[in-house]
Amino acid sequence: MAEKLLNTSVPRHIAIILDGNGRWAKKRGLPRTAGHKAGAKAVEKICEEAYNAGVEYLTLYAFSTENWSRPADEVNMIMNLLRDYLSDSLNNAKKNNMKIRVIGDRSGLSKDIVDKIIETEEASKNYTGLKLQIAINYGGQDEIVRAAKKISEKVKEGELDPSDITKDLFENYLDTAGIPAPDLLIRTSGEQRLSNFLLWQLAYAEFYFTDVLLPDFGKKDLAEAIKCYSQRDRRYGGVKQ
Ligand code: IPE
Ligand code: IPE
Ligand code: MG
Repeated sequence: MAEKLLNTSVPRHIAIILDGNGRWAKKRGLPRTAGHKAGAKAVEKICEEAYNAGVEYLTLYAFSTENWSRPADEVNMIMNLLRDYLSDSLNNAKKNNMKIRVIGDRSGLSKDIVDKIIETEEASKNYTGLKLQIAINYGGQDEIVRAAKKISEKVKEGELDPSDITKDLFENYLDTAGIPAPDLLIRTSGEQRLSNFLLWQLAYAEFYFTDVLLPDFGKKDLAEAIKCYSQRDRRYGGVKQ
């Protein structure tokens, strides 16, 4: 694995907007919930394949702060899938040596889900394989506002001075503190928008949009995205020598 990680053509961190479950189900005359189940299956494979490809960090958008506006039965079903996923993740993390972290606002989640998140993070914290971040009740704007509130509290308590606030300090108050910014953002199913995902962290990411729906997204599609990334010229505002 070590020599794979040295290959700079493989993104160190991939973020994915998991989209298209509803359309996948509709095409087959199935309920949207069947699409979410199929999407969850695809996610397991994506984690394995990303790690095999030499990716170090994978961040997946599973449920946004805006997704609460969906019909209650769909929201409940997604929450149940997340419950199952988190319950299985203890075994999955062990099997695949994955370190799992959940980002997003936990205060809006049911207590049993929060308990499962804490348990999973604690149990997997020393695993040294893929670092998997799952975004649940996550919104980029919400994350930035929460960070600003935490910093303001510190200033109010006299623990920080406004002049201490730098880009690096601000990043330490985001949910992704300590995690390098994504190199590549993938969105499945044809939409070309961020839908409030990692607004701060994606400042210099390369974007890759594919029409493939999440439940159909597999090894070949991931390889295609990585290949496309390897051909990009990242300049970060500079000029090429
Ligand atoms: C992504 O699939 C899953 C979540 C946002 C939770 P969608 O449910 O958004 O699928 P489409 O966009 O309706 O096809
Ligand atoms: C973005 O997908 C949120 C997640 C993948 C969790 P949506 O399907 O909710 O986004 P919009 O509504 O197309 O912008
Ligand atoms: Mg969608």
